[in-house]
Amino acid sequence: QSVVAIVPAAGIGSRMGADKPKQYLEVLGQSILAHTLDTLLSHQQITQVIIALHPNDSFFYALPQAQHPKLITVLGGGERADSVLAALMKAPEDSWALVHDAARPCLTLADIDKLLVSRADFPHGAILAMPVRDTMKRANQKGEINATVCRDNLWHALTPQLFPTSELKMHLQAAILAGVTVTDEASAMEWAGISPGLVSGRADNIKVTHPDDLELAELFLMRVAK
Ligand code: C5P
Repeated sequence: QSVVAIVPAAGIGSRMGADKPKQYLEVLGQSILAHTLDTLLSHQQITQVIIALHPNDSFFYALPQAQHPKLITVLGGGERADSVLAALMKAPEDSWALVHDAARPCLTLADIDKLLVSRADFPHGAILAMPVRDTMKRANQKGEINATVCRDNLWHALTPQLFPTSELKMHLQAAILAGVTVTDEASAMEWAGISPGLVSGRADNIKVTHPDDLELAELFLMRVAK
């Protein structure tokens, strides 16, 4: 079965406070999105990359990667899940969908391989994730500590997240219709009663969200042997 990468890139990145969407900010000479696409487009097993763009996107077609023969563009939606669903509509039914945030430029080919190999253990799919290291606190409304949350078996969900395209499409669509808050693909699968696998991923696969993250991404991109 073929593997299709799905890239939600239709967000406006309001938390970054920049003059353009965060995926178009430059790190080491090219945009965050260009770094992300380079990795996905260069992976041998990924046959197609489907990217969801904002309707008012005026930056994408200036990227050198925009004309790549593996690349297909679609219009994204109001929420991340809507953008992913729009892209899934263009993926072959019998493929695997590898969904990866545009804003995670430090992904390595080795981590993609690790997730692809995990299909043998997790036929309904799996996600890259990282065990929680810090002590976790739940806060009250005043910003005081309410409770210490046990960190045993607690993981950070990363991307890529890999699922059979037809299953993900069906459950994501149903979850959106039911009004469930879906912040990643696994949550739609969980909502449908499936327990996706957890595959330990690299800690430097950060999602660029706040201005400080740009410096970190630069450091990691320099260091990571792709
Ligand atoms: O805002 P956040 O960092 O959670 O966004 C994660 C990814 O989802 C980003 O790559 C962003 O461009 C994308 N997104 C999208 N459509 C939306 C909102 C976010 O494709 N409506």
